[in-house]
Order: sequence, then C-alpha cells, then structure tokens
Amino acid sequence: MPVLSGDSGLEIAESLSMIMKMDFTKLETRKFPDGESYVRVPEEAIESIRSEEVILVSNTFPDSGIMKTLFLLSAINDIRKGNLTNVKQEGEIQLGDVGPGVILAIPYFGYARQDKRFSWGESISAKVIGEILSNHCEGMVILDLHEPGVLNELKVPTRFVSSMPEIANFLSIDVKPDFILSPDKGAISRATEVANIIGSKYSYLEKRRIDAHTIEHTPKDLDVDRKIVAIVDDMISTGGTICRASDALRRQGATEVHAACTHGLFTGGALSRLANHVDGVYTTNSLSNPRANVSAAPALARGIEEIIRELR
Ligand code: R5P
Repeated sequence: MPVLSGDSGLEIAESLSMIMKMDFTKLETRKFPDGESYVRVPEEAIESIRSEEVILVSNTFPDSGIMKTLFLLSAINDIRKGNLTNVKQEGEIQLGDVGPGVILAIPYFGYARQDKRFSWGESISAKVIGEILSNHCEGMVILDLHEPGVLNELKVPTRFVSSMPEIANFLSIDVKPDFILSPDKGAISRATEVANIIGSKYSYLEKRRIDAHTIEHTPKDLDVDRKIVAIVDDMISTGGTICRASDALRRQGATEVHAACTHGLFTGGALSRLANHVDGVYTTNSLSNPRANVSAAPALARGIEEIIRELR
C-alpha cells in the first residue's frame, strides 16, 4: 500500500511508510499567488495509486490544509476511477475504475475544539469537517482528537489513536517525572495513561476558560512538594493553560515542571511565555514546531492497521 502526502504531514508519512514497510510518494502541493491551494499527483504515482489501496497523510490545519486534503482526495479518487481527462489532453489513455480505496490519516485535525455549539447559532465545525472528509475516503485515522465523540457518527470506519504511549516513553527517559498532572478534566484519560505507563502518581485540575487567552484553575491540594511534575495535554495553543497550571504546581513546591502534548500549535508567542513558566516543553511532530521530539507515526500506524483489518 503506498503512503502519500503533500507538504503537511510529510515527515510523518515518511516514518509511517518505514514502520509499515510501504512505499512513500510525495504529492505536489503549492499556493497560487493569491493564496489559493494547488495540488497534483505526479505521473509516476499513478500506477501505484491504481494498483492498491492507498494511505494519504494530511493535516486539516490551517484552513489551507483542509483545502489541500480535499483536493488531494479528489485527485487520488479520480485517478482510481480512471478519470485522467484534462484540457491539454495529456496522458489520456483509457483506464478502468479500480474502485474506492483511500485511508486518510490526519495527524492534526483542525477545528477539533469547536466540537459543540457553545452558543446559539454556532456551527459544530469539527463535525462539519469530519463529514465532508468522510465523503471522500473509505476510512480515517485521527491522532489525539480533542473530543472523539464529535465524530462518532461518520459513515466510514474511523479510529482515534493516541501518542500518549510514545510521550510517556519520552518523558520516562528524558524527564523522569514523579507526578503527572492533567491541566483540566478533558485531559484526565491522557494523563492517566501516561502516569500508568511511567508508574507515577497523577491528578487533575478544574479549569474554567474566561476567554481565548484567559483561564482560571480551581485551587486544589496536589502532592507535588519537591517533585518533578509533567503536565500532559492534547494540545498547547496560547500556552495559558500550561502556564497557570505550572504556577499552581510551583506554589505547592514542585521543583521542576515540564509540559508535554500531542499538538504544539504555539500561537502568539506561546513558546516565549512558556519558557518563563516551565522547565521543558515536548510535543509530537503532528505539527512542525521547534519542540517536536516525539514521532506521531507509530500511533497512526496502529490505527491504520486496525482500519485495514476492518475493511478487508
Ligand atoms: C482544551 O481543553 C485543550 O485540551 C487545551 O488545554 C487547550 O486548548 C490549550 O489551550 P491554551 O494553550 O491556549 O491554553
């Protein structure tokens, strides 16, 4: 099965192809001068795309990532259908329809946090994106989705996989934490998984978001005096959640505070802000960033293997 990717998810797709012992092909993606997205499947990939089912690795972030993912799915599906017609009449040999066969692997699923209608009149954006994508592939694998429940009713098999085992492994070697903290209730299962793998204690904080840049934690006694603590979350955006959690930990005597997450968005100077509050920041490479120390490929490989078994 060939592993394909455009520019987003390239590094992950290459590692994935090595883990799964599959061939890797880079697809062409670029921008027009006005910022619109352009994609093209190179001629040398046509035969392999038609000979077997394929895996497309693509992020749906930022918004151009959604467009590129949809255009790549469309181009691949057309090639599988044998539809190579074009205005230049190049390569227009008669090819039959080899049937559907695209598994979409998404390292970072954009709009994940708009998973509810928080106020009247909003769209449930994560569901909108999931439904559109599911119309163009036979299965999806999504890494550490903020709230998987929002995509429970998609019409194609979908696997929600987690990089927490790889993050736990990294932390146990490089940080050796005594205590794992979830900065809010939403990340409890992730923090628990990491703590169980490392064999450390864990707890969580109750968080209230005032606005996109301001959060508050309910004060709570934590057993962190003279301990090395790692805060674990699905994503870091402004860094506000981690900075506030770290302040609470330091007030209670933690000697070192580290932060680990799957998706490092790091918006608006988050990394400099974090540098004043934590001793280290670690993420997977689901999004490229200077703190990406953990590969997202093993988790995606686990989900792809399950989808392949289910589809056969
Ligand atoms: C939300 O519940 C997520 O799990 C993260 O805690 C949140 O998105 C982090 O955002 P920020 O870094 O802006 O506080």
